[in-house]
Amino acid sequence: MSKAAATATDRSDPPVIPAHVAIIMDGNGRWAAARGLPRAEGHRRGVEALRRVVRAANDIGIQYLTIFSFSSENWTRPKSEIGDLFGLLRRFIRNDLASLHRDGVRVRVIGERDRLERDLCAMLDEAQELTRDNTKLNLVVAFNYGSRQEIANAAQRLAREVAEGKRDPATIDIETLGRYLDAPDIPDPDLIIRTSGEQRLSNFLMWQAAYSELVFVPIHWPDFDKAALEGAIAEYARRERRFGGLAAKTGS
Ligand code: IPE
Ligand code: IPE
Ligand code: MG
Repeated sequence: MSKAAATATDRSDPPVIPAHVAIIMDGNGRWAAARGLPRAEGHRRGVEALRRVVRAANDIGIQYLTIFSFSSENWTRPKSEIGDLFGLLRRFIRNDLASLHRDGVRVRVIGERDRLERDLCAMLDEAQELTRDNTKLNLVVAFNYGSRQEIANAAQRLAREVAEGKRDPATIDIETLGRYLDAPDIPDPDLIIRTSGEQRLSNFLMWQAAYSELVFVPIHWPDFDKAALEGAIAEYARRERRFGGLAAKTGS
């Protein structure tokens, strides 16, 4: 995909669709509080937004959609809320896996498995296995995910290979470390969207976000829809990515 010559005003350019969009789905609790509803209702409505956005991403032709569903730090929330969030993930897989599969969506899961219950791990494996040959949208679910943990795990595996005499430390470069992350075959996100107005990464894809375009939208996640996704993509299309080099355009 080349967007070197794209500008917001040049209507003859084809639309610029990012290959990989990652979303920090934030604001469920505040959405609920603003309506006098329990936080759990915000999370439930958040799953409805997720359904809409997966369908929209598939329609738009996005290749990879990564969604931040539960962070390594979300364990600090009350037990009951953690239970709600885990219940929603289980229900999402149980209710939506068949239709995702029908729509050609390939499900991937990143994050740590060690604190997750065995049956939940089995559900996640089943979702990945069932959809592994699908060729439309790749839906990457970041669950119990933290970027620092992901990088530390990669470092630990590499250190073990060095200690066992299987690796020369001099071979550990950017590409090598990248191959030891959770989903090495997935390209870095082109666009990271965070809803709810917060402007931080909260330990999401910090390695992979080195040159991602960040778009912060003021609406809470349960209100996010196809139009909001298209709005964020339009904002992305107006950006000029330089990757440390010089602007591709001349005469401006
Ligand atoms: C996002 O909404 C869902 C998760 C973090 C799992 P929040 O629950 O963070 O909602 P706010 O930020 O408190 O409004
Ligand atoms: C980030 O949102 C995690 C997810 C969306 C799953 P948080 O609501 O947990 O992030 P902070 O605490 O506001 O940074
Ligand atoms: Mg939040």
